[in-house]
Amino acid sequence: MKKLFKWLAILVAGVVVLIIIAGIGIYVMSNSHFNKKYDIMPETVEIPSDSASVVEGRRLFVTRGCVDCHGENGEGSIFIDNPAPGTVVGVNLTQGEGGLPENYSATDYVRALRHGVGSDGRGLVIMPSHEYTHYNDIDIGRLVAYMQAMEPIDNELPQTSVGPIFRMLVVTGAAPILPVEIIDHNAEKPEIIPPAPTKEYGKYLSVGCIGCHGDDLSGGPVPGLPPDYPPGANLTPHQSTGIGSWTKDDFFKAMREGKRPDGSEINPFMPWPAMSKMTDTELEALWVYLLTVPEKEFGNR
Ligand code: HEC
Ligand code: HEC
Repeated sequence: MKKLFKWLAILVAGVVVLIIIAGIGIYVMSNSHFNKKYDIMPETVEIPSDSASVVEGRRLFVTRGCVDCHGENGEGSIFIDNPAPGTVVGVNLTQGEGGLPENYSATDYVRALRHGVGSDGRGLVIMPSHEYTHYNDIDIGRLVAYMQAMEPIDNELPQTSVGPIFRMLVVTGAAPILPVEIIDHNAEKPEIIPPAPTKEYGKYLSVGCIGCHGDDLSGGPVPGLPPDYPPGANLTPHQSTGIGSWTKDDFFKAMREGKRPDGSEINPFMPWPAMSKMTDTELEALWVYLLTVPEKEFGNR
């Protein structure tokens, strides 16, 4: 009996040592990802200065989800605070205390949005630049015009610090923790697609949905998020698990009021409160496009 305990103790100790070695390995490997510096000179984007562009930039900032992580007025917020993934802070984008450096330039904004690289050359963590890299010059220009016009707000926040789950995900590449690593930095500039209720414009806008709903829009758990977050819904025209039986009015109601056709409420992790400010043209374009995507069962992302 005593001998058995001894062997068991050795076995347990061995497993613990292996886990510690694996942990150290992941820590060291992930640090080489997080600390890597990128020297990227982004393409020039014309930044408009008229007030209409700033107003439109503000609307984009709300409807394209920037407010979800950077706060209603760009003052910053703690987006994820959980020891497993880590503390992820959508930085204060204003010129107030704790905000972006005073000399933060138009080039710096474009580098962050199109390439996922901060002004210090580090890859930005969680900031979904792999989506914004598909925004055309007009949208990027207006977003930057608005950010440059933001009222300074004092808000000192902690630094982003990554926990074991995000470290593991960055080493395995299973979720876009460092979007800089998956962006095509030599891509042609995105086409200017005129805002109209067309499939093409809807496809352009759907870039903002795939992060949570999946590349094929069939939904499922959002990679990298703790299990208490709801899975993305199926937005393909599948009859029973998607929006195949929905009407255009049903879709507008979901996006504007957060209600499904059966009256049930959509979890506000689906950023419908912000997306409710999309124009009729934008929602119609999305609807037209969604009807054309291949029908899939839920969760095939
Ligand atoms: C899912 C959360 C999230 C969303 C959505 C998001 N950001 Fe960020 N953003 C972050 C985080 C986190 C950082 C800081 C990352 C870091 O320091 O590694 C950041 C950093 C930035 C920076 C600073 C880059 C630098 O040089 O330090 C800018 C500018 C920025 N975001 C603009 C935007 C704009 C504009 C949008 C919307 C089009 C947006 N962000 C949407 C999370 C987000
Ligand atoms: C930050 C993540 C996120 C983004 C971005 C996002 N969604 Fe969602 N969406 C969700 C989640 C999660 C659900 C399921 C909510 C629930 O279970 O109550 C959902 C549900 C929905 C629903 C309700 C469908 C149903 O059957 O319940 C619609 C419609 C929808 N999203 C459309 C969109 C569109 C269109 C976009 C892009 C313009 C988008 N979403 C972007 C997370 C997101």
